[in-house]
Amino acid sequence: MRTQVAIIGGGPAGLLLSQLLSLQGVDCVVLERRSRAYVEGRIRAGVLEQGTADLLTQANVDERMKREGLVHDGFGLAFDGRSERIHLKKFAGGSVIVYGQTELTKDLNDARLAAGGKIIFEAECVSIDDFDTAAPEVVYKHEGETRTIQCDFVAGCDGYHGVARKSAPQNAIREFERIYPFGWLGVLSETPPATEEVTYANHSRGFALCSMRSLTRSRYYIQVPSDDDVGAWSDDAFWDELRRRLPNAIAERMVTGPSIEKSIAPLRSFVAEPLRFGALFLAGDAAHIVPPTGAKGLNLAAADVRVLARGLIAHYLEGESDLLDRYSDVCLDRIWKAERFSWWLTTVTHRFGEDEFGHRIQLAELDYVTGSDAGQTTVAENYIGLPFEGPFA
Ligand code: APR
Ligand code: PHB
Repeated sequence: MRTQVAIIGGGPAGLLLSQLLSLQGVDCVVLERRSRAYVEGRIRAGVLEQGTADLLTQANVDERMKREGLVHDGFGLAFDGRSERIHLKKFAGGSVIVYGQTELTKDLNDARLAAGGKIIFEAECVSIDDFDTAAPEVVYKHEGETRTIQCDFVAGCDGYHGVARKSAPQNAIREFERIYPFGWLGVLSETPPATEEVTYANHSRGFALCSMRSLTRSRYYIQVPSDDDVGAWSDDAFWDELRRRLPNAIAERMVTGPSIEKSIAPLRSFVAEPLRFGALFLAGDAAHIVPPTGAKGLNLAAADVRVLARGLIAHYLEGESDLLDRYSDVCLDRIWKAERFSWWLTTVTHRFGEDEFGHRIQLAELDYVTGSDAGQTTVAENYIGLPFEGPFA
């Protein structure tokens, strides 16, 4: 098979890239290791920056998001028994949209398949060859056979554990990593959310987060040791622990019910540099991971895809390679700022061992940022997503 752009990975990054390219007539094929049902069953974060929402509008996949997504003009920061609000609209002139990544992935798959897009499910890429030449090849396994795609470019959108980043020459890539000594135990339940807005809570027993998927479906998380066994957490034990970590006013409004999904995810910060190796480009989780505090993962993946799609489209439609040449630098600039914000929000809201001095510093910092206009502005502008500039605006 021959295509212009071979896209490895059919998560949100790969699907959005294929949608944006196809709308401009650039030919592409998506290879996805898992089945469609598996990909659409993964529960992930659910907060979209306005820039991500705008990109979905450009990609013609915003219809359901606009209908079902919840627009939030602020978010909560709870600490020391208090409940404060970061005013996104007032201090940064923007808002975020609460819409599950799971739903977005379904919308993207629907749009691609309705338009006759080529997504090969249960196709595992095993190697990416000759990407330092003008004739790269992608080798994959599908239905027990080994097959090859000839292409001009390869987009590695295959997540943290994918094959794309591992294909980069070892002497050409640098990796930066921080692993946190805890994970998030998450529960999804068919109950009305306890808070109107997403609320991050710092408590001496550990971090807690109140989020939602709709007005009748809640998503909650609590910080747990990274080696905790999810099977040891009954629903009741989860609700009890969550309640203890929230200010009384929120805990009293919490409606509990059976969990629909319960899982533990580790927290990690990770960046690979650069993001381009000849004709191979890394995008999304293949290139970087943020801890989920601040919900930047999907937004950062979308931001990479925005730049990559524009670069590839300029290459094919205008014969202009400048944007592609700048891909790595433009993306890394935003990536490090989102890494910083996610790390910061994690640092001020989680419990790090028995560090009482550190805990007091966290409370002082939260009091400061929620109580000062300058503090609110810096948090708000990062939360809604930093602006795109120049040709990427
Ligand atoms: N061949 C084909 N597909 C692969 C391979 C492979 N060798 N390895 C991995 N994949 C697929 C995975 O099955 C997965 O569906 O690549 C996809 C990568 O998708 P994601 O992990 O969702 O990553 P990405 O599209 O970059 O989305 C980033 O998802 O992980 C969250 O927090 C993250 O919200 C962020 C968003
Ligand atoms: C979620 O709703 O799953 C969610 C919200 C905000 C975050 C992380 C996850 O920062």
